[in-house]
Amino acid sequence: MSVAMSEQKFMIRFCKAGIISITACYQKTMALLCGKHPNLYPWHFQWTAIRDLNRDLADVLPTLEGRVLDAGCGLQPYRFLLPSVTDYVGMDVVPGPFVDYLVKTGERFPFLDESLDAVLCTQVLEHVEDEVFFLDEIARVLKPGGRLVISIPFIYQVHGAPHDYRRLSEFGLRRLLPGYTVERVNHQGGIGTSLATLSLGWLHTQLDATTPTSLVKMLITPLLLPLQAVVNLLGVLLDCCDSTRAFYGNLLAVAVKNSDGSK
Ligand SMILES: C[S@@+](CC[C@H](N)C(=O)[O-])C[C@H]1O[C@@H](n2cnc3c(N)ncnc32)[C@H](O)[C@@H]1O
Repeated sequence: MSVAMSEQKFMIRFCKAGIISITACYQKTMALLCGKHPNLYPWHFQWTAIRDLNRDLADVLPTLEGRVLDAGCGLQPYRFLLPSVTDYVGMDVVPGPFVDYLVKTGERFPFLDESLDAVLCTQVLEHVEDEVFFLDEIARVLKPGGRLVISIPFIYQVHGAPHDYRRLSEFGLRRLLPGYTVERVNHQGGIGTSLATLSLGWLHTQLDATTPTSLVKMLITPLLLPLQAVVNLLGVLLDCCDSTRAFYGNLLAVAVKNSDGSK
């Protein structure tokens, strides 16, 4: 190998290592400035997507008791809202430091029939290949009278590709819960916050598409954060004028498993 070629290879490796370190440093700084999931500040580009979900979960989760399964737990972002449960277990198909039970997609859950008091399942159903089997498993492991707290987006960009299979309206979600009495379904967000979430999501996806554009994104961050705060605020204001109930970003349902097994 010529000296010129090995110098070129060294430079390429040097640049790649430099970009990786800059990106890691940027991400740490952004977590400090904009917060971390699920506690994001209003200038974070996903603040409108998570704000109402956080509010509704803070209302519902502290009422759960007994043995609770977090199905598709990821980093267990809402565990802190369940201080009084006797047992909390996280299950996922992807290994991680917070995953107590690792399962394979489409596999039976590793719990006995009617052994759990509640199941929490936030932002998972859109990523599950066979949603009917998954919900049947939840119903199998829940005790009669047990509660299911489930959320899913309705208006949101593709994420977690290729494992992003569906969005659900309130009516679609209700149809998937035949063996339950649905206590409440919260529509989260309206036209304004949906537009804010989609437009800022698009901007970030576009800027993250290539290395040069992601470097541009880092450079324009001091402009981006105030812009995001304004777009988010306008979204919240526009939501105040939206009485259609047709443009929500996300849904949260709380459902109680029927004691008589009726569907
Ligand atoms: C968008 S993340 C949500 C994580 C967490 N529940 C939250 O609210 O932040 C979706 C999670 O569902 C998990 N998941 C996808 N399919 C699953 C399945 N069939 N069974 C269990 N977990 C699954 C993914 O691995 C991922 O951790």
